[in-house]
Amino acid sequence: MCGIVGYIGKEEALPVLINGLKALEYRGYDSAGVAILVDGEIKVKKSVGQVKVLEKDLEHEKFLGHLGIGHTRWATHGAPTESNAHPHTDCSGRISVVHNGIIENYKELKKYLETAGHKFTSETDTEVVPHLIENFLKQGNNFDTALIDTLKMVKGAYALAIIDRDNPETLYATKLSSPLVVGAGVGENFLASDPSALIGKTKKVIYLKDGEIAKINSRDIRVINLEKEVSPFEIIQLEWNLEQAQKGDYPHFMLKEIFEGPEVVRATFRGRVRSSKNLVKLGGLEQVRERLKEVKRIIILACGTSYYAGLIGEYLFEEITKLPTEVHFASEFRYRDEPFDEGTAVIVISQSGETADTLAVLEKAKKQDLLTLGIVNTVGSTIARETDAGVYNHAGPEIGVASTKAFLSQLTVLIMMAIYLSKDKSSTKVILKELEDIPAKIEKILAQSDNIKKLAEKCRGYDNFLFLGRRYNYPVALEGALKLKEISYIHAEGYGAGEMKHGPIAMISEDFPTMAIIPQNSVSDKMLSNIEEIKARKGPVFVIATEGDERSASLANEVIYVPKTLEPFEPLLTIVPLQLFAYYVGTNKGFDVDKPRNLAKSVTVE
Ligand code: F6R
Repeated sequence: MCGIVGYIGKEEALPVLINGLKALEYRGYDSAGVAILVDGEIKVKKSVGQVKVLEKDLEHEKFLGHLGIGHTRWATHGAPTESNAHPHTDCSGRISVVHNGIIENYKELKKYLETAGHKFTSETDTEVVPHLIENFLKQGNNFDTALIDTLKMVKGAYALAIIDRDNPETLYATKLSSPLVVGAGVGENFLASDPSALIGKTKKVIYLKDGEIAKINSRDIRVINLEKEVSPFEIIQLEWNLEQAQKGDYPHFMLKEIFEGPEVVRATFRGRVRSSKNLVKLGGLEQVRERLKEVKRIIILACGTSYYAGLIGEYLFEEITKLPTEVHFASEFRYRDEPFDEGTAVIVISQSGETADTLAVLEKAKKQDLLTLGIVNTVGSTIARETDAGVYNHAGPEIGVASTKAFLSQLTVLIMMAIYLSKDKSSTKVILKELEDIPAKIEKILAQSDNIKKLAEKCRGYDNFLFLGRRYNYPVALEGALKLKEISYIHAEGYGAGEMKHGPIAMISEDFPTMAIIPQNSVSDKMLSNIEEIKARKGPVFVIATEGDERSASLANEVIYVPKTLEPFEPLLTIVPLQLFAYYVGTNKGFDVDKPRNLAKSVTVE
């Protein structure tokens, strides 16, 4: 995880770096630091905590220069202290490095360097990098060779931004398995872990590939490989705008992003769905159209919230597409020996397009020659580039660490994909018509946010929560529980309601409430029986029910209504009150919901 930025150009580097780091804080916020070339010397400043602490600490310092790098940390090796904060330097102070990733063989490298007389000041894996470069420079190499020799020695994952006091016109960048983009400006160029840090600066980005080194000055970007050969690159035009990356009038990104739900669903199906013609057009899948006709089995792979979207995808593909579908955590699947057969397609789902485990299973599927499809939000990200074909979410940048609007867009893509892949389209017209009505239905739920806020106030004192759902709403129960855990630090478990009697019911008491997701559907009678059982054991019950459903309301301590919809669409509605619920419990407890403790949005290490 961690976020890294770099700048070279006509402006003062510091404000550009600080703003970039603020945009990347969702990747980690244990400490922050910058290194800037000031009057021929590299000046470094680091602070423990969020970027705003670093900004404050720099208020009375002169850090005026046009070349610099910055870092916001999610601690892996070494506690979140000032000495472990990046940037890290060599013994002489000539080289300064920021790093995202893990250098797996750092212990042996550190031992080797210490024996050679290098002095280390941190417990991090990163610090071996500047010392190794220094080591190779001392052997008489030029900087390019010293860097390449260093990269040949380190094992693991890295995105590195480097400045060298003796190369004052160059910002160096390189990567292996961790994301890094170069932003191309006019008279200035940028570097960042992902494009959200570049919004408002440039819309032109270059995604560096593994093993490439970018040598960036204010007018020019050159990319070479480890053999010093020139590596061609493509400049990608970003669609995101500045407004999307700002909070506007909202107190938190999370709330803004929940309220963007209706527009996100619209943006995801816009231009892709024509219900009057019973038509779904997914341009990104056209190139593999013929191969898709041969698909007999689908494996969906993802992590976290994207995995829960995948679980809903399983129900969708089975019901609508009639294809056997299975879903796995990418982190588990990467170490399984699952036998594949011809006709298996793998769908990877990832908001960031950079999650390490998801990327690893994608590579595994590619090695087996399976057809790989992506459902990715971040345009140009590694997963988007590595899949054979895919569908972008069009949700816009998601900044809040807890995923909300991306989940809605993932579900929307899965519904469209399920219809696109189905051979029998006799019943899909009614589904497409309903999809067009979903944004207005989400708006009706958002209009009740005050009621949900009141419920959250009542619930802030509970230490535990059980979330129950069934069929399409079983993954919603899992995702609702995850949101509450992440944002309010309340222990919450999601369960399929049918499993309740197989264990979880033992926990039920007056102090152990249940959030039951019971829209009127094919399993609501079964759900209501489970609720009776909880009530009989004095467990408080809060219910998400369909408008006008008196029966569920009569059993519940409190009820939140959602509009009626077709069963496959229920998650698009029932998750919204649960996202708001988690948000309001978290803010009521005074937590920083955009940056929950211990979390980082983009998990680029294993
Ligand atoms: C939860 C959350 C995470 C991500 C997971 C996968 O709110 O945001 O669980 O869903 O880390 O991330 P992506 O979708 O970027 O691969």
